Amino acid sequence: MSRQVTAATLSRPVPESDTELFSAAALLDPYPHYAMLRSLGPAVFLTRYGMYGLFRHDDVRPALVGWERFSSAEGIAMNPVTNELMAGSILGMDPPRQRVVRKVFDDALRPKYVRKVAGDLERLAGDLVDGLVRQREFDGVADFARKLPVDIVLDLIGFPRDGERADLLEWALGAFDFMGPASAHQSSCRPDVEALMQYLATKATPEKLLDGSFGQIVWQAVDRGEITDTEAVMTMSAYACAGVDTTIAGISSTLWLLAQHPGEWAQVRADPETVAGAFLEGLRMEAPVQSFARVTTCDVPLEDLTIPAGSRVVLSYGSAGRDERHYPDPDRFRVRRAPSDTVAFGFGVHHCPGRALATMEAHALFTALARRVDRIELAGAVRRTPNAITRGLSALPIRVT
Ligand code: HEM
Repeated sequence: MSRQVTAATLSRPVPESDTELFSAAALLDPYPHYAMLRSLGPAVFLTRYGMYGLFRHDDVRPALVGWERFSSAEGIAMNPVTNELMAGSILGMDPPRQRVVRKVFDDALRPKYVRKVAGDLERLAGDLVDGLVRQREFDGVADFARKLPVDIVLDLIGFPRDGERADLLEWALGAFDFMGPASAHQSSCRPDVEALMQYLATKATPEKLLDGSFGQIVWQAVDRGEITDTEAVMTMSAYACAGVDTTIAGISSTLWLLAQHPGEWAQVRADPETVAGAFLEGLRMEAPVQSFARVTTCDVPLEDLTIPAGSRVVLSYGSAGRDERHYPDPDRFRVRRAPSDTVAFGFGVHHCPGRALATMEAHALFTALARRVDRIELAGAVRRTPNAITRGLSALPIRVT
């Protein structure tokens, strides 16, 4: 009897690793784990989590583009409870439905509209940095990175200006942590998700959202029958989660890197054109979204390996940025590298629609700093809170001259 030859039978077995990639210790310093996982092959089976993982840049990027084989439709979280709760979120859709919902984001976040707030961002960044320079010492997260995302972006999204709005940031961090592999810690984040959903149900309603905001564009799409009520609430949730903490993490990590590399800061000061590249380099090295997952719709060959159909696969944006196969000397922060091909904003159909806005915020802040500050130094120990999905700092003591 002839044996059927499939891609799976021609391949060598996918290498396995029992590394605890989502333990608190690994989340605080994932880079040695990523380097080990990249060395094993183009795909690795993570035995502790029952998931495959892609850790090399040149495997992660095509997987992001190839949504027909690496689908988001079964959710991009790493546990079934969260994937069920996220039903109706754009992040958990494939085209053609994803394109319909995506239009709502693209209409709001188109660079030509976003540029309208450039003046506000520059003014606010200038005033902020003037005050921080007078203070000389400040917290790079609370006093620097948080200001524009909270004061401008939450207004743009349209959340009412009340006391509860600031809590969104904590709830969103909890919601990201809730997307990790099932564990006691992961399920302990559920109250944050419930608080976020309760807030959205009561405050992100058409009559309460600020006039002219992105949120109102979302509900107008519901009125036109383009998206459903559930999709609208989940769209507001995507704005709250994807749009604020990520930008704060990216800005504070870049500031942290600049403080540790005075020579690189001198280059930014000498040539303001390098500001955009410095932010990209910060995101490459410290991706605010470290990973999301996909599910394979068929057997997927990768070099001499095959990932079987129906597998959950972690796509590691954080490891891709440190891949020595793609970026020479990847652990070195060099503002002139300006890695515009970084996957830190994703790629393909789900690439980040907020990229232009986040970049403008970072640009306004670092340009204001470059005009006024000669030296940036660390003034104490930094603090991080481990999170299954996002990577950022919780405290960053900074001194400027
Ligand atoms: C430095 C800041 C940011 C980073 C690093 C970032 C990162 C990402 C990444 C990696 C994805 C891809 C998700 C995937 O592959 O499944 C994504 C998607 C998304 N981002 Fe961002 N983001 C940032 C800022 C923003 C901002 C400012 C907004 C909105 C105000 C935003 C809204 C979204 C939305 C709605 C999606 C889902 C798009 C879709 O599924 O089609 N992001 N972001």
